[in-house]
Amino acid sequence: MPLASGPGPGWLLFSFGMGLASGLNCPVDCQCQTQEVICTGMQLTEYPPDIPLNTRRLYLSDNRIRFLPAMTLGLLSDLVYLDCQKNLIQEVMDYTFIGVFKLIYLDLSVNNLSLISPYSFSVLSNLVQLNLSNNPRLLSLNKYTFANTSSLRYLDLRNTGLQTLDHAAFQNLISLQTLYLSGNPWKCNCSFLDFSIYLIVSHLNHPDDQNATCVEPTELAGWPIAQVGNPLRYMCITHLDQQDYVFVLLIGFCIFAAGTVAAWLTGVCAVLYQNAHRRSSEDESEDEHGQRVEDSRRIFQRGMESGHDGYPQLI
Ligand SMILES: *[C@@H]1O[C@H](CO)[C@@H](O)[C@H](O)[C@H]1NC(C)=O
Ligand SMILES: *[C@@H]1O[C@H](CO)[C@@H](O)[C@H](O)[C@H]1NC(C)=O
Ligand SMILES: *[C@@H]1O[C@H](CO)[C@@H](O)[C@H](O)[C@H]1NC(C)=O
Ligand SMILES: *[C@@H]1O[C@H](CO)[C@@H](O)[C@H](O)[C@H]1NC(C)=O
Ligand SMILES: *[C@@H]1O[C@H](CO)[C@@H](O)[C@H](O)[C@H]1NC(C)=O
Repeated sequence: MPLASGPGPGWLLFSFGMGLASGLNCPVDCQCQTQEVICTGMQLTEYPPDIPLNTRRLYLSDNRIRFLPAMTLGLLSDLVYLDCQKNLIQEVMDYTFIGVFKLIYLDLSVNNLSLISPYSFSVLSNLVQLNLSNNPRLLSLNKYTFANTSSLRYLDLRNTGLQTLDHAAFQNLISLQTLYLSGNPWKCNCSFLDFSIYLIVSHLNHPDDQNATCVEPTELAGWPIAQVGNPLRYMCITHLDQQDYVFVLLIGFCIFAAGTVAAWLTGVCAVLYQNAHRRSSEDESEDEHGQRVEDSRRIFQRGMESGHDGYPQLI
């Protein structure tokens, strides 16, 4: 037994001692076989005491158990199969499964789960099959819920209250093959885009994918979520919202205003320049005119002079 891999050697020694003391007991309402305890349909309202500590398979289905006690469940450090379907379990806490880290199969379907703490499954790195279906009060899953369950192959999330999932929650589910998502009120808004693209690119089996459909928004109601990636991409990336139109209008107005001001300034500059130019050229032409008059006057005078005095001079 690898002492270092469990929750601590003290715990294991304690379990071992208890095992010697109570290993041969069987809970009153249950049937015990080799490493297997069956308490199905016994009207149990609590987790049964005295479960043999070497139990590998435990069937608690079809009872009225409201919660799983981490301390006593944690004594079953060889447990690989735990069936709790059809009970009234309301919460799974971070430490609930901390002692049963060898679990391969966990069925929590048909319960009354409303909370699964983010690290509830964090020690279950051998878990292959997890059934959380038929828990209508389960409204959300944290993105770290499956961070360490990297062996998971079958995940059943049917008929819960889940409206959305974070695609980051599936990042470490590298072995996932089959995912059931039908019967949930999926809300296919833009936050759902990444998950819907994950569904397209991940090539998982969705045996129920025709029944896994969007409920909201109305324009996508009834769309299978495994196919909604492209319309969502159109809606969220190329499509403009009212808010975007306001933004575009605002930008347009700014450009328009800037253009108007620029045009006005250009106009003013042009007018000023033209005025200045006109004034300077008027001065010039006035100058020229004056000079020409002077010249002609001089010529005229000279002509007059020469006309008056020249003849007699020539003679
Ligand atoms: C289920 O859980 C809610 C609290 O989350 C509780 O009010 C309700 O009574 C429970 N249902 C049953 C059948 O025990
Ligand atoms: C995930 O598992 C590894 C070993 O399997 C462990 O060291 C780590 O603490 C676990 N993570 C969490 C969040 O429990
Ligand atoms: C999960 O549990 C439901 C109800 O108990 C059952 O119908 C379904 O087949 C189970 N899913 C898987 C993958 O075994
Ligand atoms: C989409 O819906 C979910 C679930 O109601 C909500 O948490 C999220 O904020 C919504 N996202 C957007 C972009 O509206
Ligand atoms: C889809 O839902 C309908 C009606 O609820 C049911 O008859 C059918 O078997 C379901 N199909 C799958 C593939 O789950």
